[in-house]
Amino acid sequence: MAKWWENASIYQIYPRSFQDSDGDGIGDLYGIETRLDHLVELGVDGFWLSPIHPSPLADFGYDISDYTAIDPVYGTLEDFDRLVAAADARGLRVLMDLVPCHTSIEHPWFREHPDRYVWADGRDGGPPNNWRSTFGGAAWARDPNGGPRWYLHSFYPEQPDLDWRNPEVVEAFGEIVRFWLDRGVAGFRVDAIDRLVKDAELRDDPPASAPFALPLPKEYAELEHLYSRNNSDIHAALASLRAAAGDALLVGEVYLPAAEVAPYLDSLDATFAFELFHAPWEAAALEAAIEAELALPGAHAWALSNHDFPRLPDRYGEHAVGDAARLVCSLPGIVFIYQGDEIGMRDGPGHDPPYDRAGRDAHRHPMQWDGSPNGGFTTAEPWLPLIDPTERNVADQRGDPDSLLSHYRQLLAWRRLSRE
Ligand code: GLC
Repeated sequence: MAKWWENASIYQIYPRSFQDSDGDGIGDLYGIETRLDHLVELGVDGFWLSPIHPSPLADFGYDISDYTAIDPVYGTLEDFDRLVAAADARGLRVLMDLVPCHTSIEHPWFREHPDRYVWADGRDGGPPNNWRSTFGGAAWARDPNGGPRWYLHSFYPEQPDLDWRNPEVVEAFGEIVRFWLDRGVAGFRVDAIDRLVKDAELRDDPPASAPFALPLPKEYAELEHLYSRNNSDIHAALASLRAAAGDALLVGEVYLPAAEVAPYLDSLDATFAFELFHAPWEAAALEAAIEAELALPGAHAWALSNHDFPRLPDRYGEHAVGDAARLVCSLPGIVFIYQGDEIGMRDGPGHDPPYDRAGRDAHRHPMQWDGSPNGGFTTAEPWLPLIDPTERNVADQRGDPDSLLSHYRQLLAWRRLSRE
């Protein structure tokens, strides 16, 4: 039987920047609920919520301190239940973001269950090996409680890596998955999966002898991540997530070229096609990336943009965004559309000083609903400024048959029709 998500179109909501409803300048769950009709008009089948859990915001929600709660800035569990019901009433499915590789350093587990994390003794007075963190510097930090060992962090030091070889971690994530499924979510986008388990012997990564197939931060790219990512024990961990998830949709963020992704599809329904995501806007490169992805078994998850990388007009040029929409919407598999792409939002100025130390504020500016100074996003000072609401906004484009928004609506309507 066909699954609901086959050839589905899914909208990525970055909750901080979608719609504020309580006048604090930050988006929230009730705000999302009030904007669900936009998703219906657009013609998507559901939405993925970037993390909404309590977080000290070192990595803007991807550092989680409680996996089964809602950060008060976004609302309550009751608000979440109401949002799921409102989505359901409109035929929209809800996907959560599952972040299993690391917690926030402020998660109580880090104090109460340190054995759920990856620790090692230092070497020659320094870190245990040469692994680098994605965002720069060593992937190891000293025990903040003064102990002799170092903990591993694949991303920021505020994000200690969990030890998926510890059955308690496996069990805890099974419970987290079931908690949200019981509340009516249809699946998960699973974060940073190729980092889930690392070499048990903690061997040094060799220097990179050739450039990696996908863009990486410069310092991180100096090594070939032979031992610090893509370990074969990841697949047992993923199988446990699959067992907990039943037949819910699991879409993995596996940041690897397509040729290395197949084993992940034993447990995941689909993985993001990052070769296409990062291909330059040139026919031969786009074609090669699409073919590499289509050679994979299982379903495909196509996306051209998200909260981590420059927006489409900044990467392809304004002239190409309509064609980019047409290209991605014509592909077989699941298509993800990042909020704001449907009106051609560009990167913004970010914030000074930056909120995100890795420089990603520019891709996360608030949604532009109308041409007012705050774009209809908030009545207060927005956490990041609006970029150009008078130039592009939902209200203006909705009434214009030649707008990018109308173009997306036609494409998504066509995707639905071609499925029936
Ligand atoms: C994923 C998220 C990114 C985050 C990282 C670490 O790549 O998309 O925003 O910084 O994982 O959790």
